[in-house]
Amino acid sequence: MQAFVTRRIPREGLAALSQAGVCSIQQWDSDEPIPRSELLAGVAGKHGLLCLLSDQIDKEVLDAAGSNLKIISTLSVGVDHLALEEIKKRGIRVGYTPDILTDATAELSVALLLAACRRLPESAEAVKNGGWTTWKPLWMCGYGLSDSTVGIIGLGRIGQAVARRLKPFGVKKFLYTGSRPKPESAVEFQADFVPLTKLAEESDFVVVTCSLTPDTKGMCNKDFFSRMKKTSVLINTSRGAVVNQEDLYQALVSGQIAAAGLDVTTPEPLPTDHPLLSLKNCVILPHIGSATYATRSAMSVLAANNLLAGLKGESMPSELQL
Ligand code: NDP
Ligand code: DGY
Repeated sequence: MQAFVTRRIPREGLAALSQAGVCSIQQWDSDEPIPRSELLAGVAGKHGLLCLLSDQIDKEVLDAAGSNLKIISTLSVGVDHLALEEIKKRGIRVGYTPDILTDATAELSVALLLAACRRLPESAEAVKNGGWTTWKPLWMCGYGLSDSTVGIIGLGRIGQAVARRLKPFGVKKFLYTGSRPKPESAVEFQADFVPLTKLAEESDFVVVTCSLTPDTKGMCNKDFFSRMKKTSVLINTSRGAVVNQEDLYQALVSGQIAAAGLDVTTPEPLPTDHPLLSLKNCVILPHIGSATYATRSAMSVLAANNLLAGLKGESMPSELQL
């Protein structure tokens, strides 16, 4: 059997693949994304595909792969880059990497929230550029978590892990929204299930940790921001497309909301002349939620083991239910 790997991945994952003796490996051995033409050529005739969230696995790629393709293993928990209907129709199984990246992503979400609400990049910059002239009572003030209301959009694995980390900061109330109430997840935080509009109106911090679906695309838009408090902060560590970036820009410029922190954007990378990058009250990171050495290594091993199990016709350690 033959498998195609679309990027350089941590050596632990590659070792797991190559030492298993299950398939021969062809790899795009670069840190840079594979050009589309190389992807289409690379997948041809392969039985397995190990891909990244930056690879759009659509009908064209599936057609190029042909009928040999039985397994797609993505090095991510997010699966919005996969044409799932088409994949299901063809009887292809999908592996992904939930759970093992939850802690790292929740930690980064908290770091980003604190960076945005306490103005850390702006303050650090002032130290370097001479903006720091003296201790001033009214300078570089932000918003703290004590006694606050935090709204979580998507109380899934990462959403719960974020709430767990924020609770000790003295959060007074947690709200959450989703497709249905989840009392079993919410009980730990005594979180209230509310409509999106109420979450916008009542939260001091909104943390977006949902998956990107047709329902969540553009969910944080003009109407949503217009309901938020002027002192509130938006954090997005899910997918860029959940937030309407033009509407976010207007909300930040006009003072409709106080600040934002984004680990994910549309597109990625965000062009360096993008208007959001001109704003002091917007902290933008380059999609590093899961970027600890240990997590990326574990993700690569899980993705490799998903692929190998699938190729052998066995149950995968983490298989997406299609
Ligand atoms: P989960 O499946 O555990 O959680 C996803 C959540 O999204 C669920 O709670 C689900 O709620 C919610 N959701 C779905 N539809 C809606 C909706 N219409 N409104 C509100 N919430 C909704 O996934 P994870 O927590 O493991 O991961 C979540 C996402 O985080 C991933 O899909 C990925 O895109 C992103 N991610 C980003 C990383 C980064 O580096 N920044 C790292 C890892 C993940 P319900 O069950 O009620 O539908
Ligand atoms: C994912 O897994 O979906 C992240 O975006 C990267 O770890």
